[in-house]
Amino acid sequence: MAQKEYVVDKLISAKAIAARIEDLAREIEAEFKGTDKLVVVGLLRGSFVFIADLVRELELPVEVDFLETSSYGNSMESSREVRILKDIRGEIEGRDVLVVEDIVDTGHTLTHVIHLLESRNPKRLETIALLDKPSRREVDVKASWTGFEIPDEFVVGYGIDFAQRNRSLPFIGKVRFLEE
Ligand code: IMP
Ligand code: MG
Repeated sequence: MAQKEYVVDKLISAKAIAARIEDLAREIEAEFKGTDKLVVVGLLRGSFVFIADLVRELELPVEVDFLETSSYGNSMESSREVRILKDIRGEIEGRDVLVVEDIVDTGHTLTHVIHLLESRNPKRLETIALLDKPSRREVDVKASWTGFEIPDEFVVGYGIDFAQRNRSLPFIGKVRFLEE
């Protein structure tokens, strides 16, 4: 099926994202002060730009790991059934863990990942999402920290894709379809 034509309208600038990450990093540092090493777990693939900027801003010793869950494929709808495609490499029992997500939408992905990682008995598990679409929530979950709350729009950029495109945009934009 041919993809309908669309344009991307800027929603959050690169500068605004950077400023927000500085503030979030200070809050995370305060919360995990004294940790011997924080395990920062990025959810692939959408969080790869966010995690890169976040860990460089954090003045804490960190270890970086990744987890990949099943995605939307090429559609704009959540599958609701979350599968683990790639597990983290490290042990997290007794460790401080921060899960980094791009967007909390229906909430199924974050809920599933929290349950999975909590079952491994970390000392402490917190979560951060760059974006949150609270109006779309189907399961009651909220990240410990949120970058920006956004309306029910399909967004791309800063690591986030639509059918594997637009990840490399330095800002967050919303997809707007053009009329035929
Ligand atoms: P949830 O399980 O419905 O909360 O979906 C979370 C995942 O869906 C996110 O990690 C994103 O990968 C993807 N997602 C949700 N909203 C968007 C969007 O607006 N653009 C691109 N991906 C999205
Ligand atoms: Mg994702």
